[in-house]
Amino acid sequence: MSATESSASTTSMLQENRLFPPPAEFAKDAHISSLEQYEQLHQRSIDEPEAFWAEVAEGLHWFKKWEKVLDWDLPDAKWFVGGQTNLAYNCLDRQIDDGLGDKVALVFEGELVDDNGQPEVVKYTYAELKREVCRFANVLKAQGVRKGDVVTIYMGMIPQLAIAMLACARIGAPHAIIFGGFSAQAICDRVEDGKSKIVVTADGSWRRGKPVPLKKNVDDALEMTKLVEKVIVYQRCKNDVTMKDGRDQWWHDLEKDASDDCPAEPMDSEDLAFILYTSGSTGKPKGIMHTTGGYLVHTTMTSKYTFDLKPDDPDEMYWCTADIGWITGHSYIVYGILPNRVPTLMYEGGPNFPAEDRFWDIIERHKVTKFYTAPTAIRTFMKWGDEHIDKHDLSSLKLLGTVGEPINPEAWMWYREKIGGNRCPIVDTWWQTETGGHMLTPMPGATPTTPGSCCRPMLGIDAAVVNSEGEEVGTNEGGILVIRKPWPSMLRGIYGDRQRFIETYWEKVPGMYCPADGARKDENGNFWITGRIDDVILVAGHNIGTMEVESALVSHDSVAEAAVVGFPHEVKGNGVAAYVILRVPMPAPGSDDAKALQKELIQHVGKELGPVAKPDQVRLTEALPKTRSGKIMRRLLRDIAAGNDITSDTSTLEDRTIVDKLVAQGG
Ligand code: WT7
Repeated sequence: MSATESSASTTSMLQENRLFPPPAEFAKDAHISSLEQYEQLHQRSIDEPEAFWAEVAEGLHWFKKWEKVLDWDLPDAKWFVGGQTNLAYNCLDRQIDDGLGDKVALVFEGELVDDNGQPEVVKYTYAELKREVCRFANVLKAQGVRKGDVVTIYMGMIPQLAIAMLACARIGAPHAIIFGGFSAQAICDRVEDGKSKIVVTADGSWRRGKPVPLKKNVDDALEMTKLVEKVIVYQRCKNDVTMKDGRDQWWHDLEKDASDDCPAEPMDSEDLAFILYTSGSTGKPKGIMHTTGGYLVHTTMTSKYTFDLKPDDPDEMYWCTADIGWITGHSYIVYGILPNRVPTLMYEGGPNFPAEDRFWDIIERHKVTKFYTAPTAIRTFMKWGDEHIDKHDLSSLKLLGTVGEPINPEAWMWYREKIGGNRCPIVDTWWQTETGGHMLTPMPGATPTTPGSCCRPMLGIDAAVVNSEGEEVGTNEGGILVIRKPWPSMLRGIYGDRQRFIETYWEKVPGMYCPADGARKDENGNFWITGRIDDVILVAGHNIGTMEVESALVSHDSVAEAAVVGFPHEVKGNGVAAYVILRVPMPAPGSDDAKALQKELIQHVGKELGPVAKPDQVRLTEALPKTRSGKIMRRLLRDIAAGNDITSDTSTLEDRTIVDKLVAQGG
């Protein structure tokens, strides 16, 4: 693995100065069609934020208009105070009210294909989707769910996931969606944290031709907690499941008599819309809270401008490949896209089923115009080879997006050439679960882009690179990325943990929101993200807390102590390396016993946290390199995992021979 690829953010970007102006053909019809226009709009949004955001909000439906745009008492923001709205109403009813009930809102493609290679495709118009949402909302009500009750959803990428979330939004029950790749332990922890009494799940979810046993995972989780009283199960894969009497019920049974009429609950702007868990630098995942009005306004506005969505263009077909279990899916498959009146495509399964060209096949068949994916996926496609792409006609594409981690310039160029045919602008969007929506991104018809840079602040966003005192650093100087003014979709807190909210985001740089990303700003005013400044590892674009993995390892009977670090990985951006001290006698390095134990520990972490967190390397060791004051020298562990020469200063080490042994032992 070359250093250039993984640390795109630090190495290659230094020489990266290619500048691609927005394609003229695209700029011509874009919502924002020149850099001057963007700069004017942005300046005004910073000078008069309340007027700016009020104008955006006016384009949406409110049961009751707000009295005050912003109430800001750092770190607490209230947006559109006194206003009442509903996310589901704005996603569905508003379109129907305007005569667009028969327009396609959601296109679903299942993973399995029939003997002729044809997949299951289901299309929902706004009217059809609303009916489904209302029916399920009535089911939830009949099960006793009331406004304010947290509903846990653990499903695969099927329309019923979107339907369940919109049903929650419709009746004002905050959802807590758990990514379908998470394990029983993760479900249990989240259910307990959110004090959720009801879980919506499915029997299974198709992944590479096999059902992921979702219901089984829920059953295992509910062995560990007594909180959940009801489980609703959607039948997708018809895999074997056990239904527990008095607790578990089939979705289709409950829906039999459900009415498809359910008025949307007027929600106060600041009513909780959902909780979504994200990993932090300390052990426990954080339940990020998003509220209703501001989240709706911000995600709808950013969807429109970042993807230049065109509701009047009958060919518009938007596809985001993220899972709805992550914030990207919440904001840019469902809540931000549906109010924009363009079809949103949802794909159930893996990118290599039945073959490595599945995504390109989907783009060709559905004539996708706007495509949003992650750098780790792009690097995987590069590795699989261009022949899978060359088979397909991708000429429908007009815009490409990326999100989740810094994109290395090589992958950016490949994306532009091979997928975008050199005619599509690329929007590299920087944001977080906590920010709710896009924060830094090019405007596709306006901003000249450089491979690897996420360019400029979104309208309404006041971003800067500062030192720890909050003073702006010079051009091209590294510093801390901060957001200096509140924005509508900002997190309102960490569920049940006020202190952690303040410490994590508001104390690193006093008075400013600190996302814990390093950054620099270049001479063109473009931002470059240089990597996390906390103990979070971005693995394939997913946040993995080193402490979480360490705790999972230590929960294994044979493990006494563990230290976890990230290291550069060709496809995933970063890999996870674990250094483990055993409670039991250490098997000889490289022996079968050692290998078996390493494998077992990897599986153990997978079971505790889910497959995404599985370490790529497990190194058994007698001791960890510590300073004389007892601090683990993680920098050294990173170098060893990456296979780098140990060039950094080791003079503060208590015992240098530990490092030598680890290097000699190999990965
Ligand atoms: C962290 C947030 C936003 C949805 C997916 C991840 C990193 C995200 C970029 C980008 C460089 C990026 C940051 C951020 N990140 N997008 N375009 N360029 N870094 O959401 O799990 O909350 O992770 O992902 O480090 O803080 P998340």
